Formats: sequence, structure tokens, C-alpha cells
Amino acid sequence: MARIELVPRPAIIQHIIDESKDVKSFILEMQDGAMLHAVPGQFIEVSVQGIGEATFAVSRLVTAKKQFIVSVKRLGHLTKMLHRSAEGNLVGVRGPYGNSFPLDEWKGKDIFIIGGGIGLAPLRPVIDHILSHRKDFGHLDIIFGARSPQDILFKDDLEKWQAAQDSVLYTTIDIPHEGWEGRVGLIPAVVKDVNIKPDNRIAVICGPPVMIRFTVAAMKDLAWPEQSIYTTLEMKMQCGIGQCGRCNIGEKFICKDGPVFRLDEIPAYALIE
Ligand SMILES: Cc1cc2nc3c(=O)[nH]c(=O)nc-3n(C[C@H](O)[C@H](O)[C@H](O)COP(=O)(O)OP(=O)(O)OC[C@H]3O[C@@H](n4cnc5c(N)ncnc54)[C@H](O)[C@@H]3O)c2cc1C
Ligand code: FES
Repeated sequence: MARIELVPRPAIIQHIIDESKDVKSFILEMQDGAMLHAVPGQFIEVSVQGIGEATFAVSRLVTAKKQFIVSVKRLGHLTKMLHRSAEGNLVGVRGPYGNSFPLDEWKGKDIFIIGGGIGLAPLRPVIDHILSHRKDFGHLDIIFGARSPQDILFKDDLEKWQAAQDSVLYTTIDIPHEGWEGRVGLIPAVVKDVNIKPDNRIAVICGPPVMIRFTVAAMKDLAWPEQSIYTTLEMKMQCGIGQCGRCNIGEKFICKDGPVFRLDEIPAYALIE
């Protein structure tokens, strides 16, 4: 095993953003000043000393400042401890690992991004890339679904995406909420409602497995071929480098062959929790 890859390197928490009641974004910088050379879709392992480590998508690269962001939903022990961290604290970072979204292959196409909850985190660098290489891509549609208005993430980004050239953002919440005048409904229903056609278009989906499964079903009803749909999968991981055997689907490892997959590359059961 390439053990050097398993040694975490110290990174400083430069800034913390409260995104919602249970999601914080951590703006990190390697302590030695090195750049994290991640590409959209890749993930890192973040450790808190004495507690353990967990897997997070890189939710933004701020290349000019050699900074990178992870957006963390509080769930269990490690994520609770991360949420209790303060600016200036150190965490361990391994990676980046995994494959990436084939953005070069998508040049010239319209792009349809569908993110549910914290599933928007790995998709944000894709949107960043499209908006900073606007002429390389066609029309951009984004559906973002959150449970309630309080769960809406990346609010400043949503405003920018809404105002961006040749882009449409559909933000939806699961059930009606006092004071919310926007769209209400689960993502698969919104997908059917907006009925975006697959012609010369790529769709990218990330969210909880149940959301991915029903969204894919809705898209198939709209005649989307599997070859035009990409997703990024999650599973409890350990090594992140294809060595421990914790994350396989058939012969593929999510950590090494993924986490980004085209739908026709994975068996249907990969979308079942
Ligand atoms: C490729 C990849 C990218 C990810 N990106 C992000 C991200 O950008 N932001 C983010 O907040 N989270 C992300 N996750 C999920 C994150 O790794 C888990 O939330 C984290 O490991 C939970 O650690 P914990 O110690 O706090 O909770 P634990 O105590 O380990 O778990 C709490 C509960 O959550 C379940 N759980 C833990 N991890 C997962 C998982 N990966 N999938 C499904 N259920 C899980 C456990 O089974 C348990 O029921 C990603 C996971 C993967 C594999
Ligand atoms: S996490 Fe160890 S093999 Fe994938």
C-alpha cells in the first residue's frame, strides 16, 4: 500500500461560514502553503486529531489564495467535532482522491445540474467551472432542493447563479413553509415539471441516494438516456485509495473508479441505500 498517501497533512481553518442550521463551510489552507491540486468531483479525507477522519467533496477551490473549501453537514461524531472547531485550528487532510467530472467532454453541450441538500457541495465546483468558462458550454439549468428555507445552502452563490448569463436556477423546498413564496415540491417532481429535454445536454445529479434514485426514474420517464446522466456516489469510506475494500460496487471502487460515474457504468443497485 502506498502508505505516504495515508498520512494526513496539517491544514489551517482560515474561516468558517455558517451555511444553514447544520452545515458549515470550512475554508482551509495547507499549513506548508502548498496548493491542493483538486479538480471538480474529487474528494479529500479530513481528520480531527484523536477523533478520526471522514470523506468530503471539495466544494470550492480558491486557487489564487491556495485555499479550498469543504462544506460539512453535522451528522455523527467527526462532523460534530469539526463543527465545534474554530478559525485557526488545525485539521488533517489527505488527498485529493477519486476521478472527476469530464468537463472537457461536455464542452459545447447544455448542462443540467440537480443537487439535493449537501449534495450541492460536489456540484458547486462544476458550476464554478462552467461560469468561468462560459463560452465553452451552452445553457445552464440548476435545480437545488432543500428541506426548508432554513436548509438552503450557498445563498450568495444562488443569487449569482440566478443572475448569471444564459442560466436558470430553480430552487425548491420539500413542503410549504410560512413566508416562502418560491417553488415547493420534491426534486423528481420539479424535474418532471420543468421538463428539460436531453438533446445535446448532460445532467449531473448529487444528493441522498433516495433522491438520486427517484430523480433518475423521473428523467427516464422524460426519455433521458443513461449515457447523458452523471452522478457522484457516496458510501462510508476508509482508505480512499482502493485498498481497504470498503466501498465497492461490483468490481468498481467508489473511491478509486468514482465517485463520479455515468449512469450506464454502474448497476441499478448502486442507487439503492
Ligand atoms: C465521496 C464522498 C463525498 C462526501 N462529501 C461530503 C460533503 O461534501 N459534505 C458532507 O457533509 N458529507 C460528505 N460526505 C459524507 C461524510 O463523509 C459523512 O457525513 C461523514 O463521514 C460522517 O462522519 P461522522 O463521524 O460525523 O458520522 P458517523 O458517526 O460516521 O455516521 C453517522 C451516521 O451517518 C451514516 N453515514 C456516515 N457516512 C456516510 C456516508 N458517506 N453515506 C451514507 N451514510 C453515512 C452512518 O452510517 C451513521 O448512521 C461524503 C461522503 C463520500 C463518500
Ligand atoms: S475506501 Fe478503501 S477501498 Fe474505497
